[in-house]
Amino acid sequence: MESRTQVIVIFLFVAMASFSHAAVNVTYDGRALAIDGRRRVLVSGSIHYPRSTPEMWPDLIKKSKDGGLDIIETYVFWDMHEPVRGQFDFTGRKDLVKFIKLVADAGLYLHLRIGPYVCAEWNYGGFPIWLHSMPNIELRTDNEPYKAEMERFTTKIVDMMKQNNLYASQGGPIILSQIENEYGNVESSYGERAKPYIDWAAQMATSLNIGVPWVMCQQGDAPDPMINTCNGFYCDQFTPNSDQKPKFWTELWSGWFTSWGDPVPYRPAEDVAFAVARFYQNNGTLMNYYMYHGGTNFGRTSGGPFISTSYDYDAPIDEYGLLRQPKWGHLKDLHKAIKLCEEAMVAAFGNTTSLGQNLEVTVYQSESGSCAAFLANLDNQLDTTVNFNGNSFDLPAWSVSILPDCKNVVYNTAKVNSITGISKFVKQLAQTNSSGNGATFSSWSWYSEPVGISSSNAFVLPGLLEQINTTADRSDYLWYSLSMGLNDNDPLLRDGSQIVLHIDSLGHVLYTFINGKLAGSGKGSAKNSNVSIEVPVNLEPGNNTIDLLSVTVGLKNYGAFFDEAGAGICGPVQLKGLSNGSTVDLSGEQWTYQVGLKGEQSELSSGSSALWLSEPTLPKNTPLTWYKTTFSAPAGNSPVAIDFTGMGKGHAWVNGQGIGRYWPSNIVDPNGYCTTCNYRGTYDQNKCLANCGKPSQQQNHVPRSWLKQGENVLVLLEEVGGDPTMISFVTREVATVCSKVSESYPPPMDLWSSNYLTRVIKPTLLLECPSPSQVISQFQFVSFGNPHGGCGGFTHGRCRSKRARRVVHKACMGKPKCSIEVTVENLGNPCANITKSLAVEASCS
Ligand SMILES: *[C@@H]1O[C@H](CO)[C@@H](O)[C@H](O)[C@H]1NC(C)=O
Ligand SMILES: *[C@@H]1O[C@H](CO)[C@@H](O)[C@H](O)[C@H]1NC(C)=O
Ligand SMILES: *[C@@H]1O[C@H](CO)[C@@H](O)[C@H](O)[C@H]1NC(C)=O
Ligand SMILES: *[C@@H]1O[C@H](CO)[C@@H](O)[C@H](O)[C@H]1NC(C)=O
Ligand SMILES: *[C@@H]1O[C@H](CO)[C@@H](O)[C@H](O)[C@H]1NC(C)=O
Ligand SMILES: *[C@@H]1O[C@H](CO)[C@@H](O)[C@H](O)[C@H]1NC(C)=O
Ligand SMILES: *[C@@H]1O[C@H](CO)[C@@H](O)[C@H](O)[C@H]1NC(C)=O
Ligand SMILES: *[C@@H]1O[C@H](CO)[C@@H](O)[C@H](O)[C@H]1NC(C)=O
Ligand SMILES: *[C@@H]1O[C@H](CO)[C@@H](O)[C@H](O)[C@H]1NC(C)=O
Repeated sequence: MESRTQVIVIFLFVAMASFSHAAVNVTYDGRALAIDGRRRVLVSGSIHYPRSTPEMWPDLIKKSKDGGLDIIETYVFWDMHEPVRGQFDFTGRKDLVKFIKLVADAGLYLHLRIGPYVCAEWNYGGFPIWLHSMPNIELRTDNEPYKAEMERFTTKIVDMMKQNNLYASQGGPIILSQIENEYGNVESSYGERAKPYIDWAAQMATSLNIGVPWVMCQQGDAPDPMINTCNGFYCDQFTPNSDQKPKFWTELWSGWFTSWGDPVPYRPAEDVAFAVARFYQNNGTLMNYYMYHGGTNFGRTSGGPFISTSYDYDAPIDEYGLLRQPKWGHLKDLHKAIKLCEEAMVAAFGNTTSLGQNLEVTVYQSESGSCAAFLANLDNQLDTTVNFNGNSFDLPAWSVSILPDCKNVVYNTAKVNSITGISKFVKQLAQTNSSGNGATFSSWSWYSEPVGISSSNAFVLPGLLEQINTTADRSDYLWYSLSMGLNDNDPLLRDGSQIVLHIDSLGHVLYTFINGKLAGSGKGSAKNSNVSIEVPVNLEPGNNTIDLLSVTVGLKNYGAFFDEAGAGICGPVQLKGLSNGSTVDLSGEQWTYQVGLKGEQSELSSGSSALWLSEPTLPKNTPLTWYKTTFSAPAGNSPVAIDFTGMGKGHAWVNGQGIGRYWPSNIVDPNGYCTTCNYRGTYDQNKCLANCGKPSQQQNHVPRSWLKQGENVLVLLEEVGGDPTMISFVTREVATVCSKVSESYPPPMDLWSSNYLTRVIKPTLLLECPSPSQVISQFQFVSFGNPHGGCGGFTHGRCRSKRARRVVHKACMGKPKCSIEVTVENLGNPCANITKSLAVEASCS
């Protein structure tokens, strides 16, 4: 009954979207969050508004709702909203209020994680860089200047929410809010001033009277009434610090982020589902996917150092806004199964008993008689059968079965019934004219960035300067320049041995130019951003220049005192290899500094400038070159990307919008650990890896809304050297959809029918095109028998029905979706005594 009431409430919520809603009372107790006094089991997912565009938001929110989420969670990104102290920006991708209103319009709740330190693999953890240069400031500790800034921004956001009636207590969607972020992970490093800071933060937040509960994540000592919550790959063993607080999981890592030069992590759907089911089995009542849609680190927003531009995160919705199948569908089925248990779960705590080694059953039973059970097999190898409640159940290794009535299994985390989809980048062929279908580049123009000092803003100081203090992160680039006049008999010239320039840098990337020519370069990595290089140099009589270009690749966002990590050339800088064995130290010389590049000061990224050249010939593979071209957008509605094959490292802009750093020349170790990944057993971010021997990231997302009809402008800033004529436009397409269903499987329950407990169905294979406007147009593979492999790589087994292809073709060809009974009556019986499966791979158009 209760769940029916809820359906009606949500329906009204949507219908009345443009009117003000009734206020609701959000409270909590030791069991769950309660909305107007009714405890709830809730599912949440993270979408960070600046990592997509306002044009993408409605679709992302709809796909979240369709996937079974109740709550959208987002951080608030202080650095974007207040780039200059006191000057606020809430436009475009920064329109937080618009994002929250869209979430409300979809009938979903919102969890607002203000931070305002957010980590998030975001530049400087979301702190504006100007905080760093305020007098006497120390971040994230009991420091008055810092606390004043944190309180000022938090209050600003809270007031903005109140003015727009966005708190649930005002009829808005916000039911939870977070202050600080994972401080418990680093708290011990801050000594005695840590605890007073956390107590102050809790008290400051509470005093803002938002009318909904606050959480602190990874904060075991969070003072009342803050709910302390868990972040991790698994949180089933977590318990809050008071039995008056419910067990919440604010970050279930659905995958992991990518760093330049490192392999790309992914997390199998079966293990994500296992982690979620274990949490709800063990008294959990609110869980959030971090991320549900990861998105893109546009411009210079990625943190680091070395966080890639793509923030795909292997999330259920991919970077481009397409469903990642079977992950999205498998979790949607899981959410449905868990919601069927809600009535029993909110009535009681779970009663867990052992059914043998690594086997646990948990029963939730209400006084009114509703009962739900979770059966878990924690063994990472052995499939087994368990007896429970008078029945026997198959329980694959590393899986949880869900029984919403304590009798029938409607879901098992290891049995994926959802369709699988394979998304691909499809190259858009260049057209000879701009009315064709593909993206068309016109000819290129360019500008050669001067090596060394070219700006009148340059300044001279003795010694080597730390980079972040010097640039205030206005640019990735800082020139360190030195000229040395050598007369004919200078020992450095007459020395017979090879002289070497040695440079120690805190990173992140370093280019060395001697007398205007690139002489050497080096790069750090996510694990160690330091760069140390030794470059052979040949000095000449007269004036010699040493120009060192130090480049940051996203500022650090995590760890104790992350804000104090430096970058740039901190030295020493030395000439070594002299035949007399001594070293000439240049560190203390009078260095000339220039923040940023001339092309940046001239705003070349906008495309319009008098500096662009178009003759005599396009320079290729030359360092520090700006390129510009115009193009027409790829036709259709598929998401668009640029494939940067052929380029080295740099930045790109489309119509003046920064589509982020590109670095396809940073290749992952071919001997890394990119082995096939078994979902069974404990997952961490090093377990399942891809892209060994390939770039960590090769394509950058270009949001459709940044493209226009007619002429578009693309600008590249290439650091190392590349060939811009080799880049191409690609679209992101779901290439094929697949499904594989066994005749003994799925369990004979139809999770999605209203009478799911009584409606026994035959095993059925469902196929569905990614968009309802598409139809199934081709079959890459059909087999009923014992086919091997997975989507994209199915092969026939020895047992194979002759009839299957004809039956599937008849049921599905030309249709947007179809279903096929997986029975021998329907598909034939090629081999009587094995359990057979039907596997299909099809494409839609
Ligand atoms: C909200 O619910 C709590 C607990 O049931 C109650 O104490 C409080 O008065 C309610 N607040 C409002 C505004 O209804
Ligand atoms: C669930 O909560 C009950 C009541 O506090 C407790 O007895 C039980 O051990 C908890 N189960 C787990 C797995 O933590
Ligand atoms: C928990 O379940 C066990 C086994 O069914 C049962 O013996 C026990 O009484 C239950 N405990 C509670 C508190 O219901
Ligand atoms: C441009 O190309 C398209 C497709 O390749 C062709 O149909 C069209 O006639 C061409 N237009 C011009 C003006 O050349
Ligand atoms: C070695 O040579 C360098 C430059 O050529 C000179 O500055 C230095 O004094 C010499 N050192 C010794 C020990 O002679
Ligand atoms: C990087 O270099 C600095 C300065 O030399 C040093 O203190 C630090 O330990 C180095 N870091 C690593 C990871 O080697
Ligand atoms: C040496 O060259 C640099 C860069 O070209 C120039 O700024 C400087 O004035 C020159 N110094 C002398 C002594 O010629
Ligand atoms: C940056 O400057 C601040 C003071 O302005 C100083 O305390 C700090 O040590 C500097 N950081 C580095 C890494 O040099
Ligand atoms: C299948 O069953 C038949 C008859 O029961 C038996 O002779 C045969 O060995 C079985 N084949 C396999 C592969 O088990």
